[in-house]
Amino acid sequence: MCCVANVDGEYYAIGNVCTHEGGPLAEGVLEGYEVECPWHQSKFDVRTGEVTSPPASEYL
Ligand code: FES
Repeated sequence: MCCVANVDGEYYAIGNVCTHEGGPLAEGVLEGYEVECPWHQSKFDVRTGEVTSPPASEYL
């Protein structure tokens, strides 16, 4: 399963499972290019899968 984000008409697909404790990123909030995990608020860049805010520390 993946998380698909629509940012101004551009679509990005990243893994749905947060690398912290497995939260469902598809249920998180998207703000700009960042999706926030609904469980402990880690943030990931939907373009790269990079962590932009902890507690997660590993790429998607
Ligand atoms: S499971 Fe996503 S931040 Fe903890």
